Amino acid sequence: MKNLISASVSLLVLAACASAPSAPAATPEAAPEVMGAAAAEPAAKAWNTLTGERPIVIAHRGASGLYPEHTIMAYKAAIAQGADFIEPDLVMTSDGVLIARHDLYLSATTDIADHPEFADRKVKRQTPFGEQEDWWADDFTFAEIQTLKARQQFQGRAMDYNDQLDIVTFDEIMDLVLAEAAKGRIVGLHVEAKWPGHYTDIGKGLADPILDAMKAKGLKDAGIPVYIQCFEPPFLAEVASKSDLPLIQNMVGAPYAAMMGLDYKLEDITTDGVGADVSYVLGKDGTPTDFVERAHEAGLLVHVYTVRDDRPDAPFTDSRAELQALFEAGIDGVWADFPGTAVEVRDSLED
Ligand code: G3P
Ligand code: CA
Repeated sequence: MKNLISASVSLLVLAACASAPSAPAATPEAAPEVMGAAAAEPAAKAWNTLTGERPIVIAHRGASGLYPEHTIMAYKAAIAQGADFIEPDLVMTSDGVLIARHDLYLSATTDIADHPEFADRKVKRQTPFGEQEDWWADDFTFAEIQTLKARQQFQGRAMDYNDQLDIVTFDEIMDLVLAEAAKGRIVGLHVEAKWPGHYTDIGKGLADPILDAMKAKGLKDAGIPVYIQCFEPPFLAEVASKSDLPLIQNMVGAPYAAMMGLDYKLEDITTDGVGADVSYVLGKDGTPTDFVERAHEAGLLVHVYTVRDDRPDAPFTDSRAELQALFEAGIDGVWADFPGTAVEVRDSLED
């Protein structure tokens, strides 16, 4: 982390981020912990990324366009498709087990509504978007979570694997990349801490469990590249004080940021990079803004979320065109629901 981030907008940031749903390129500051995959390979062309290395492809919740998100099947598919990093979003159970879920609430991506034994565990909570009645991951033990199965949440995608795949722990995800490394394939982890402020409020901060878990698994010794990302600056500041891992400050999407009066000043961001919505990088007409140039001038990597084959961002009607525009704009990485497409487009630009 380059410096300490102001936490003044953290609550607003939390609110906005929760609404959305590379061979790793080494950052200059964090090379020892960001070795491997693409970082070790010279790019076949001169990329206009921060480091000149090829941009990384981050499998967004695994190959979540094809399989229920955050399942071993989704992660394995992403690895098979050539993703440089897989992305676990992490929450924690009531008994302290880190599991991969995008949200604290469980109704959207699991079969919990079909478990009568949990019917009376549905409770209302106040969220940044108002009151929500749901089942919440931190109200359940890991043993209870293990009785659930994952579901695809986006209409129009394959539902064939619904209610068959387990909820995955962070340990299992680390074991997966360690097994790949043992076979000679280095795949990184782009780890997002979800709702860390909430966990801090209930006396169960996420930073130590995440850092301790990675240390226990020996990721660094195994050469597994790691980024830690979050929308909440205080969490990143805590991780910065406890490790030298490269950090990505996720930024609320431009339209939401404008609505909320947020004005990110790139020169004040102290992480190694930013996680930016596509709209920061490409304007409404699909042409590049000056965002990447300004971020690079500030020494920041730009990782961009999220490209989806079945939901390209306007004005694009083809995710390949969107990806090409992003890569040509100089981004350093992209989260993709269909990582194989992103790898294909990136690699085609090196031909
Ligand atoms: O973490 C950044 C990227 O994954 C987009 O955010 O909401 O899908 O976790 P989200
Ligand atoms: Ca994420």
